[in-house]
Amino acid sequence: MSIERTLSIVKPNAVKKNVIGDIFARFEEEGLKIVALKMIKLSFKKAKDFYREHEEKPFYRNLCEFMSSGPICVQVLEGEDAISRNRSIMGATNPAEAESGSIRAKYGDSLDENGVHGSDSLKSATREIKFFFESHEIYCRD
Ligand code: CMP
Repeated sequence: MSIERTLSIVKPNAVKKNVIGDIFARFEEEGLKIVALKMIKLSFKKAKDFYREHEEKPFYRNLCEFMSSGPICVQVLEGEDAISRNRSIMGATNPAEAESGSIRAKYGDSLDENGVHGSDSLKSATREIKFFFESHEIYCRD
């Protein structure tokens, strides 16, 4: 096991439901620390850039429109195996298939509007953290 950092996003539908605090509580209950945090509204162009690996997928345009439709919270989570642990706290991508008690089972509305995003690998985490945060915006919480 190693200490990792991962990028987490509370998506527009979850921000609208006013459950940011509940989602953050889940991270903290599981021992993950928020070491960087901001609320922003993505432009359509910036959403397209963030999700560029999905450019060829049929859901790409809808996803980018949704992600730029309202404010989101972006945060860096730190902890042992943070990348895979965050993915299990979130649950399966499709809320209909997400494990009961997971964030997506609780707050996801559909595959497109699934409440939260989390990096899926070390490579993605490194790119995604850099996409939103300068190194001086990430804090040491030890
Ligand atoms: P996210 O973890 O943000 O990564 C890409 C997003 O694309 C995913 O969550 C879903 O919200 C969305 N998406 C829409 N359709 C699909 C699909 N068929 N497969 C995977 N992701 C999809």
